[in-house]
Amino acid sequence: MSIILGIDTSCDDTAAAVVENGTKILSNIVSNQTEIHKKYGGIVPELASRRHIEMIWPVVDEALKTAGIKHEGLSGVAVCHGPGLIGSLLVGCSFAKALCYSKGIPLVAVNHLEGHIFSSFLEEPKPAFPFLALIASGGHTCLYRVDDFRKYRELGRTRDDASGEAYDKVAKLLGLGYPGGPIIEKLAQDGNPEAIDFPRAYLPETFDFSFSGIKTAVLNYVKTIPLHSELRTLNSELINDICASFQASIIDVLVKKTEWAIRKERIKRVILTGGVAANNELRKRMKEMCDERGSGIFIPSAYLCTDNAAMIASAGHHHFKASNFAGLDLNPQAYMPL
Ligand code: KG4
Ligand code: ZN
Repeated sequence: MSIILGIDTSCDDTAAAVVENGTKILSNIVSNQTEIHKKYGGIVPELASRRHIEMIWPVVDEALKTAGIKHEGLSGVAVCHGPGLIGSLLVGCSFAKALCYSKGIPLVAVNHLEGHIFSSFLEEPKPAFPFLALIASGGHTCLYRVDDFRKYRELGRTRDDASGEAYDKVAKLLGLGYPGGPIIEKLAQDGNPEAIDFPRAYLPETFDFSFSGIKTAVLNYVKTIPLHSELRTLNSELINDICASFQASIIDVLVKKTEWAIRKERIKRVILTGGVAANNELRKRMKEMCDERGSGIFIPSAYLCTDNAAMIASAGHHHFKASNFAGLDLNPQAYMPL
């Protein structure tokens, strides 16, 4: 049996969780920084790392207390060491190393993307290997073939903006607030997804993605409307249509490319995760496509799709079992392919 404390400070959430045997969540604490960053319309890295320094100890403390576990009861600590914002990652890694050194506990290092994949092992039913994993978040949009633990093959990734980043940037240019995903999803519910024919970057020759063009297309469309800076107050119906049409473009691409990968790789199981996977329309459309193709679809609950440390502890359990320990010389890296 393993009891792993997971820590993730890769972006703007300070997260700690305790997970038993890689599958059972004993606690899962996330302190988000939305209030700090929202006036800037995006994450300010320096403010993020400063806030992590303030929050890391209370968040870890709460995770241990909620789980009813003391340091002596931990089998190991799993920390996310990249990819992410370097200043933010440094806080989690330094804290984890100090904790392990002072308490004599083993340390394992987990790639953030590997963590997202393992979010699908924290609920029932769990996917069997092999499966396809689409990670759609604020920092990443990538498609993997996963044959086993630590056997990941990247099929494609975004060449420019991530899908969540596109949501955030479009929300910013429409003056809607931050983070853009949940706001656009809500407004899109009252809009017509066919109102505006925004482009779909299918890039048919590859499994790579590109989402910067759709953001520019929305910007160019908005520029054609008089007094666009007051758009929301002037015409909320139009805003809803823009949101619905933009969202339709993003979802069409994510679903279609996953469908192509199912066909090419001949794999009948798909997991969908990352912050954008919290989107109900995407969940519905992906499930419909998988049902039509007779493929199994595994989508974690929304709170496990967005950044959390339970997913880091879950992946960490496998590193722990494989004795794949990290030394106290562990250094985080902003860029770290899986
Ligand atoms: O996985 P995550 O919490 O952090 C990263 O690793 O990036 O993803 C955050 C991203 C943000 O861009 C946010 O706008 C997007 O996920 N997001 C959503 C929704 N909820 C969060 N996008 C679309 N619909 C949502 N409901
Ligand atoms: Zn993430």
